[in-house]
Formats: sequence, C-alpha cells, structure tokens
Amino acid sequence: MTAMPTDDLEARLLAAARDAQARAYAPYSGFRVGAAIAGLDGRVASGCNVENAAYPSSLCAERGAVMAAVREGTTTFAMLVLVTDAVEPTPPCGGCRQVLVEFAPGVEIISVGAGDVRRRWRLTELLPDAFLRRSLPSRSSDP
Ligand code: THU
Repeated sequence: MTAMPTDDLEARLLAAARDAQARAYAPYSGFRVGAAIAGLDGRVASGCNVENAAYPSSLCAERGAVMAAVREGTTTFAMLVLVTDAVEPTPPCGGCRQVLVEFAPGVEIISVGAGDVRRRWRLTELLPDAFLRRSLPSRSSDP
C-alpha cells in the first residue's frame, strides 16, 4: 500500500474531526470537541465529547475516537487531529494522553482552534516516562 502524503492525511483527519465536533454533546461545559485518528494504514475513526449529568461519566472526543478505531481493528496510530473553538489550540487531557500512549507512544497530535490556528506535538513530548504495559510487574500467568 502506498503511504499517503502527510498533508492529505491531516486534511482528511481535520474534515472528520470537524464532522465529529458538530455532533459533540456538551450541554454542561459548552466546550465542543471533535477528534479523528488515523491508523498506520490510513484508516480514520472519529469521536466527539459526550457529557453526562453525572459529570465524571462524560467522555472526551479523543478517547471516543480511540475506542471507535479499536472497535474497527485499528490499534497502531500515525496521527490525531482535534478540533475545538478555543482561541489557543488545546492539548489533549491527561486521561486521553494515557489512553493514546497504550497504542501509539509516538503519535503526532495536531490541535486546531478557532480561525484554523494549529499546534503540533508528539505524544512523547506531552507524556514522557509514561506508565506502560512493561511498567507492570510480570505475573507467572503472562505469556
Ligand atoms: N474535552 C475533550 O473532549 N477533549 C479534550 O482534549 C479536553 C476536554 C471535553 C471534556 C468535557 O466534555 C469538555 O471538553 C470540557 O472539559
């Protein structure tokens, strides 16, 4: 399979993230977030934040996108784009960083705010020294 040029992938993810943002359910915070993530094979999954009257039961857009991707069989990721209406593009929250690092420690993250202002990070910058599978003590039942 031919690798897709990075710009095309970013544009495709941005379109999917905007689409997801339009479906955000954020009546409590009013902060609408859309995210789209691409597997190394170029397949795209997306998510939006879904809030709840019991606030901690809410889910972030990035985590929604990862759950959808895994459901579709994608577990290695190249790039994630998130979209908000914030003036300063916002980074993913700590919980989402931890969920992302399980699958893609080096994933590129692009945050797009109001007026299409963009910021870029590698997850390794946002979550150095992450807790990973290898951080767990091994159990005798492990393969
Ligand atoms: N939120 C996300 O969906 N992604 C982020 O990167 C930051 C926060 C959501 C959670 C909650 O619904 C709202 O934004 C305010 O925190």
